[in-house]
Amino acid sequence: MQNLNIVFIGGGNMGQALVTGLLDSDWNADSITIVDNDQAILSKLSEKFSNCHVYSQSEAALNLADVVVLAVKPQAMQTACEQIAAQCQIKRPLIISIAAGVLINSIDSWLGGELPIIRCMPNTPALVQSGITGLYANTEVSAKQRELAFEILSSVGTALWLEYESLLDAVTAVSGSGPAYFFYLIEAMMDAGKSLGLNETQARELTVATATGAAKLIAKSDQSAQALRLAVTSKGGTTEAAINTLQQYDMKKIIETAIKNAATRSQQLSNTNE
Ligand SMILES: NC(=O)c1ccc[n+]([C@@H]2O[C@H](COP(=O)([O-])OP(=O)(O)OC[C@H]3O[C@@H](n4cnc5c(N)ncnc54)[C@H](OP(=O)(O)O)[C@@H]3O)[C@@H](O)[C@H]2O)c1
Repeated sequence: MQNLNIVFIGGGNMGQALVTGLLDSDWNADSITIVDNDQAILSKLSEKFSNCHVYSQSEAALNLADVVVLAVKPQAMQTACEQIAAQCQIKRPLIISIAAGVLINSIDSWLGGELPIIRCMPNTPALVQSGITGLYANTEVSAKQRELAFEILSSVGTALWLEYESLLDAVTAVSGSGPAYFFYLIEAMMDAGKSLGLNETQARELTVATATGAAKLIAKSDQSAQALRLAVTSKGGTTEAAINTLQQYDMKKIIETAIKNAATRSQQLSNTNE
């Protein structure tokens, strides 16, 4: 598959993360094309990905495309799709959209209809090849194209399939926006550490290493999060004192409400992008 031609429309943060991931997974650089509007981004792309093709216009690139990855901002999606619609109708490549909150039906109608389209939601740890992506495919997508999309998104972390497009709202709320929740917790833990006398560097090192370690521990374990928590919570001990406080403020309910609000917002944004 690594010789199939992939065209990225949009070479910003996420487009670049995906190209980096593909090159690190030994994808043939000569099979990767990046198209972008922005002159400053184009010169950066030509330098950073000197073995790939970098264009300011999509026409030449799309003639050979097996896959087109739409990596522009949601508000730029309609224009981007309409610019490439005629060529997509001739070549009928697999379309992969990473735009948050833009429904497959909208993308399909802007592209002229009946194309194989996969909509997905990666997250920013993709920038360090540690992302997770939820994917949903329409009925035009073949088994081979599903495999291909999975391979592309797995180059920047892990990926999982969803049964319904609407589940992308839950993915957006849990993992799409999720890194920010962890950054917020890290911020709060660092502030607490500093209020106990640690300096900024010490507070950051202790908190970030703990977050990374806890994440690695649960990823390698077959135990539930609750079991792992109880295993480090001795009766009358320090962890229990902290957990009791979190429970007193009903931290679980706060997080549940926050994530439900994110999912509702994702749904609202999808409706406005229709
Ligand atoms: N960042 C995240 O956490 C995250 C997570 C999941 C999904 N996403 C999705 O990923 C997508 C890309 O996000 P990003 O942060 O990478 O955006 P970005 O940095 O703004 O990159 C998009 C690039 O595409 C260019 N562009 C816009 N319209 C174009 C067109 N018609 N043809 C060619 N190039 C075009 C833009 O140029 P101009 O600026 O000149 O228009 C810009 O350089 C978004 O839809 C976002 O929802 C992002």
